[in-house]
Amino acid sequence: VSIMKFAVGVAAAVLALPAIGWAADFRRAPFGRTADGERVEAITLSNGRGVTARIITLGASVQSLTTPDSAGRSADVVLGYPSIDGYLAQPEYFGATVGRVANRIAKGRFRLDGKTYQTPVNNGPNALHGGTRGFDKVVWRVLDVQRGPEASVTLGYTSPDGDQGYPGKLEVTATYALNERNELSVDYRATTDRATVVNISNHTYWNLGGEGSSRGAMGHRLTLPAESYTPVDADLIPTGKFRPVAGTVFDFRRPTVIGDRVRDASDEQIVFGRGYDHNWVVSRKATAEPRLMARVEDPHTGRVLEVLSAQPGIQFYSGNFLDGKVIGKAGKLYRQGDALVLEPQMFPDTPNQPEFGSVRLEPGERYRNLIIFRLSATPRR
Ligand code: GLA
Repeated sequence: VSIMKFAVGVAAAVLALPAIGWAADFRRAPFGRTADGERVEAITLSNGRGVTARIITLGASVQSLTTPDSAGRSADVVLGYPSIDGYLAQPEYFGATVGRVANRIAKGRFRLDGKTYQTPVNNGPNALHGGTRGFDKVVWRVLDVQRGPEASVTLGYTSPDGDQGYPGKLEVTATYALNERNELSVDYRATTDRATVVNISNHTYWNLGGEGSSRGAMGHRLTLPAESYTPVDADLIPTGKFRPVAGTVFDFRRPTVIGDRVRDASDEQIVFGRGYDHNWVVSRKATAEPRLMARVEDPHTGRVLEVLSAQPGIQFYSGNFLDGKVIGKAGKLYRQGDALVLEPQMFPDTPNQPEFGSVRLEPGERYRNLIIFRLSATPRR
């Protein structure tokens, strides 16, 4: 009898669950169509703690992310367009997944197993973010959606052999998950059927004051736990050297207001980047587990962003090419320095720089980059 009672009790509890509802949930809605008529979907993840993240299948991109400040006021803290039209015309990679190889490949050219491969040159003399039709420009499939203690969506894309000049058929997935600790993560995984090169990252632009706020992001305080960075030439290709940050405007080992040094033309590297657009070396090699790679704090709202990943490098870009040409979700122009981008990845141009390590992926191996964006707010002083 007691077993029966127990079984009935368990059954009742299980039946009651959907009625209680999960804290973290998702919603799906159409987000328009591409020029070819392909449907784009938006999946909004919410965690019942005031954080919502809208992911669109075009570019597996973060289209919006709302989070409370220290007074509990919510704002959308990522740059993006209100509708599909902006994304179709975009050169800015707002919130996008970038690959196969994030950042620049010198002349778009690299060698693998004795053969030279040419990817489209789309940034001066170099290739940027995977080519003219990189992962940011394609529509991803929705493979799975989940609600529960965390809400998630898994998107998939099959990059055919020869896509953008890269060898091998690459199967890529991106799983965005939002948990009750206000962490939005994106887990990138890839496998190939032939040796190839892979270095995938996320290109979300952050303004912790809100994407429509009159204040840009240059007042944010940034911490990067890196002893060195990889200096670049005038076309932003790494020279191959590792330069210590100590005594330079690249030292962010202690929290530092970005705007204090972003105009410091006495450093040629700042001139080349028109501000910060460089790779910081958090470690020479990937770590076993994700660890803190960047911390950003907005003193005005108290919002804090922490970025974690196991990747060795993090590209910090201070929104130097935003020039007031595009209008964002709040109907405001985006101007230089209105946001910052933090992209955990292998060092730029690694396919041509053996001393940087390797971005080679073999059949049977699994590529992975798990990026965690941890949101919080500190009490105001
Ligand atoms: C990356 C690059 C920048 C710029 C942006 C997109 O962060 O390093 O130079 O191209 O993407 O505008």
